[in-house]
Amino acid sequence: MTDATGENAPAHTPASRLSRRSFVRYGAAGVGVAILGSGVAVMANRPPLSPRQQGLPDLPDWTAADIPSLRGRSVLVTGGNGYPVGDRSGLGFHDALELARAGADVTIASRNQERGEEAVRFIKADVPNASIRFETLDLSDLASVVRFADRMHGSGGSLDILVNNAGVMGRKSREVSANGFERVFATNTLGHFALTARLLPLLRRSDSPRVVWVSSSRSFMGAINFADLQQVQKYDYGAAYDNSKLANLMLAFEMQRRSVAEGWGVSAIAAHPGIARTNLVLDGPGPESLEGRNHRYMPFLFQTAAQGALPTLYAAASPHAAAGGYYGPNGVLGLGGLPGWAGIPEKADDQQVAARLWATLERLGGVTFGQMG
Ligand SMILES: NC(=O)c1ccc[n+]([C@@H]2O[C@H](COP(=O)([O-])OP(=O)(O)OC[C@H]3O[C@@H](n4cnc5c(N)ncnc54)[C@H](OP(=O)(O)O)[C@@H]3O)[C@@H](O)[C@H]2O)c1
Repeated sequence: MTDATGENAPAHTPASRLSRRSFVRYGAAGVGVAILGSGVAVMANRPPLSPRQQGLPDLPDWTAADIPSLRGRSVLVTGGNGYPVGDRSGLGFHDALELARAGADVTIASRNQERGEEAVRFIKADVPNASIRFETLDLSDLASVVRFADRMHGSGGSLDILVNNAGVMGRKSREVSANGFERVFATNTLGHFALTARLLPLLRRSDSPRVVWVSSSRSFMGAINFADLQQVQKYDYGAAYDNSKLANLMLAFEMQRRSVAEGWGVSAIAAHPGIARTNLVLDGPGPESLEGRNHRYMPFLFQTAAQGALPTLYAAASPHAAAGGYYGPNGVLGLGGLPGWAGIPEKADDQQVAARLWATLERLGGVTFGQMG
């Protein structure tokens, strides 16, 4: 008997029966741990009221086919290089694909140039007349953000839609960025904040600019702990992620308030994808983490990345998306489905914390909104 590698595959021996039994046993234990772990985390926080409980109406069914023509609109999607490999792809890739299909001039920006160029080829294979290009950007490195923003300014024109999609989950041990910040905070929150501040002048040249901040249904488990924003005293990879996603949701709301107050004319909108089969967990805490086990033992919970991208696409492109709104899948617990209003965690509405977070990020990121050239 030969296996796929051409080596002899082992026959079914008592040892392999034993490993099958172990597999079942560990599998069942894995499901138990995953459910218990998720339950404990949820119980320790107050989940947001559902959109219905918050009095928000259902939205009409909406898919990527409903994106209006975006011809002449320029779009930047951070983290758009996750072209499909097996049953996984990145949410940003599908954002970029559908926005390009609608005729927008799309730039995808992330660290891995090879994957970026391959993603461009994938999109062009699907949409031959797509206007799409890749730019290198490392959000966790503020110098890279400056270089990228300078290139965007140098190319002239305006920016109509910025999709702050890129993101990482923490690994088991705390890691720091080139600037010495905790890596998840640096990438998901500080990098996007600095990027948005530096691109604001380009956005303000558009007649109806939008910024979409990608959050997570897990944001309600996050906290903004100013005493240990970098998780120096106590690092927890799940908390690092949840905190960053709560921060991004609060930044969307705060940006909308400031845009109105300062007359920037930019609509800030938040979205989350529910849960989708992407590279986030494998690149982050890995297959043996709670999240990795969920992938393995509860695959039915995960929608495709193409489906998960829909709320972000709605926020980016639907003429009905509301400035200051928060969108996510409309199914059970907001984990899957078509775009609908998302339940807003109570803590995301704390305007004092949001203002302090904004000021802190301006200081750490070396930027001032409204004053960048
Ligand atoms: N998948 C889910 O179930 C889920 C749930 C809730 C929220 N989200 C959010 O959805 C967004 C997209 O994640 P995904 O699930 O599509 O994960 P993914 O497949 O791992 O994609 C992440 C993207 O971010 C880019 N990226 C990572 N670090 C970066 C950095 N330092 N600078 C620039 N780009 C960087 C990656 O490209 P490079 O590696 O080339 O840089 C990649 O394109 C994230 O914000 C995530 O938090 C996902």
